[in-house]
Amino acid sequence: MRLGMLISGRGSNLQAMIDAAADPAYPAEIAIVISNRADAAGLARAAAAGIPSTVIARDDRSGFAAEAETRLRQHRVELVCLAGFMRLLDTGFVEAWRDRMINIHPSLLPAFPGLHAQRQALEAGVRFTGCTVHFVRPEVDAGPIIAQAVVPVHPDDNEARLAARILAAEHRLYPLAVRLIAEGRTRIVGGKVEIDGWLVEELAALNPREPPPDLLVSTRG
Ligand code: GRF
Repeated sequence: MRLGMLISGRGSNLQAMIDAAADPAYPAEIAIVISNRADAAGLARAAAAGIPSTVIARDDRSGFAAEAETRLRQHRVELVCLAGFMRLLDTGFVEAWRDRMINIHPSLLPAFPGLHAQRQALEAGVRFTGCTVHFVRPEVDAGPIIAQAVVPVHPDDNEARLAARILAAEHRLYPLAVRLIAEGRTRIVGGKVEIDGWLVEELAALNPREPPPDLLVSTRG
């Protein structure tokens, strides 16, 4: 499956996908990287991997969408992956790529959409947060959830430490979610994603295992 990755900055999720796709058995490849910023560090990662990239530094949403559309078509992209892409997209573009565009967000959606998701988690005092890969809908950080990974919040966490712990989970989750799509195992039914051959072994690598049954028995009286 041919991927188009949209970035705005560091590009560590792009790097995770580059690394995953280096395995000949991985069912997807990055056809083009598009950045809305010329100074995005991720562009150097694309160059180092020999992947074509382009900068579309347009402020108007429809202008950006039109140019992006042309590039994605030129490179025969089948799935658009937003990876730290920090601009709102034109609604027509989002609808045109409906069910063929995904995003990664650093929280367990629908909790903490929008900016500073890690700070929101700390402020809410949750014990666990994580990351989510979802199909994109016009509303910010909304859409059918493909995969999530759980990350504990430590009592002495600050935003940077928590963000780093979540990021490590992102780098495993995003390639996994793309693999599920590329293998044709995902289906959207009633606004939810169903996955064929459900994921026991893949997700167990990311998420806490269910406690053994004897731990679920009440210890009272
Ligand atoms: C990640 O935390 C991602 O979840 C969010 O933006 C950040 C991008 O980081 N959407 P990077 O550019 O992939 O390093």
